[in-house]
Amino acid sequence: MDFKELLMSRYATKKFDGTKIDDGKIEDLFEMIRFAPSALNLQPWKVKVVTDQDTKKKLSTASMEQAQIKSCSHLLVFCADTDLSGNADKITNLMKKVDVPDEKLKQVQEVMKIFLSNYDSETGIYEAQCNVFIAAITAIYAAKSLGIDSCPMQGFSAEAYSEILEIPSGIVPTILVPLGYPADKPMPKLRFPKEDIFF
Ligand SMILES: Cc1cc2nc3c(=O)[nH]c(=O)nc-3n(C[C@H](O)[C@H](O)[C@H](O)COP(=O)(O)O)c2cc1C
Repeated sequence: MDFKELLMSRYATKKFDGTKIDDGKIEDLFEMIRFAPSALNLQPWKVKVVTDQDTKKKLSTASMEQAQIKSCSHLLVFCADTDLSGNADKITNLMKKVDVPDEKLKQVQEVMKIFLSNYDSETGIYEAQCNVFIAAITAIYAAKSLGIDSCPMQGFSAEAYSEILEIPSGIVPTILVPLGYPADKPMPKLRFPKEDIFF
């Protein structure tokens, strides 16, 4: 399937048929998600993977009982990692390991310093969440390329998810991507015309 076909055939699946996605496909998907782009390559995301049915039942209540939660194979809870400076240290260390030239490393560190000075753990949430959205969108197209359907979802309580999944503070549930095989039919694609968008 070329990318245009993939883009047009992906849709927000409302209900899955409960079939389990095989582990190999899930691993391929996780590997693709890992390569999503992020500002300064800070990768400020963590993804909680939920497959346990009892947990999904509890989460369903915290997601307006939307049918995707209980019927999906895997529920990916994309979270923002607000520790931007911790991630900056991690990526700097990785750069050192691959022998990035000193001059380039210094430049990046300088830009990171300026960038990070705009944020603390509170205001860093917004920055992290913008990047989390990119990882989640990468996930839905990568999934489709593997024949897996999905739905981006924000209709859930982040507080309740944190409590049920015992997610540590500083890691903020931001967007859900349930995955599986569909038990519904796509709605017609309704989009604004090009003239309304590009100017
Ligand atoms: C940020 C975001 C949040 C969304 N939240 C939900 C949701 O909670 N439940 C749901 O069924 N669909 C949700 N959707 C799916 C949209 O309703 C859907 O993408 C849109 O109607 C276009 O339809 P299509 O994706 O099938 O082309 C969400 C989509 C995005 C991008």
